[in-house]
Amino acid sequence: MVKVIPVDAPIGAEIRGVDLSKPLDDDTFAAIENAFNDHAVIWFRNQTITPAQQVTFSERFGEIEVNAFNKFALPDDPKVLIVSNIKQDGKDIGYADAGSHWHTDMSYTATPPRMTMLYAIEVPVENGTPLGDTVFASATAAYDSLPDETKAKIEGLKATHRFAAKERGVKKPVALTPEQIAKNPDVDHPVARTHPITGRKALYVRTGECIGIPGMPDAEALPLIDELSDRIIRPEFLYRHRWRVGDVLLWDNAAVQHWAPRDYEWPQRRRMHRTTVNGSVPF
Ligand code: SIN
Repeated sequence: MVKVIPVDAPIGAEIRGVDLSKPLDDDTFAAIENAFNDHAVIWFRNQTITPAQQVTFSERFGEIEVNAFNKFALPDDPKVLIVSNIKQDGKDIGYADAGSHWHTDMSYTATPPRMTMLYAIEVPVENGTPLGDTVFASATAAYDSLPDETKAKIEGLKATHRFAAKERGVKKPVALTPEQIAKNPDVDHPVARTHPITGRKALYVRTGECIGIPGMPDAEALPLIDELSDRIIRPEFLYRHRWRVGDVLLWDNAAVQHWAPRDYEWPQRRRMHRTTVNGSVPF
């Protein structure tokens, strides 16, 4: 039987009683999906799954996005991306720098992903302490905490998101070439988006990813983006996941932002398999 154990934070719950290597009946999946919608970050411990089983489970949430960094996709299963700092013959076997800045996945696209899933295969450990945690922030709790006048001020506003993968997290957006912009055109999304299933509002801006607010001078827009971004990552809105080998963890990109601090160095080894499920146009 599915057991949902929330942590003491606005987001995050461990799910027990599920073996993800086995087919899931509809009631079991419904319980998992409800927990996902309610808690925004959920995880299962002690799992042993193949890439095909990860794909099958991911596809219960929707169609899988085939990642743009697909040189790190598994050769036999391009729907699964390797996130890893491991080097073989001097070359990265996976995407080594995924998530090393606060962000929500692919907000620079017109339909950012609904869900991202990581399966932990190798976790770095130093003196018995796991490294390479992932930190999640509740953009929903951050929105709820806003003063009424700020909620009124941002109502109906959109922010412009720009693809700037290499430099995200810096204070000023990078200048892209015309070719890069043509391939990844800027996209406007609501500053506060409404969750398509729960109906709850969440802040959907991030310094370094959002380059402005249409109709608002930059002198006003950029400090507002900074202020909202800072609010999202206040300590009271965070859940920090300490990984164990065998964890399968899922997050809801319409409700959380995340960051993976790089507190480990090769030859310490971290290896995850990632799948990403398509979402819809934010509103
Ligand atoms: C990511 O942002 O997709 C990766 C996060 C992590 O490696 O913990």
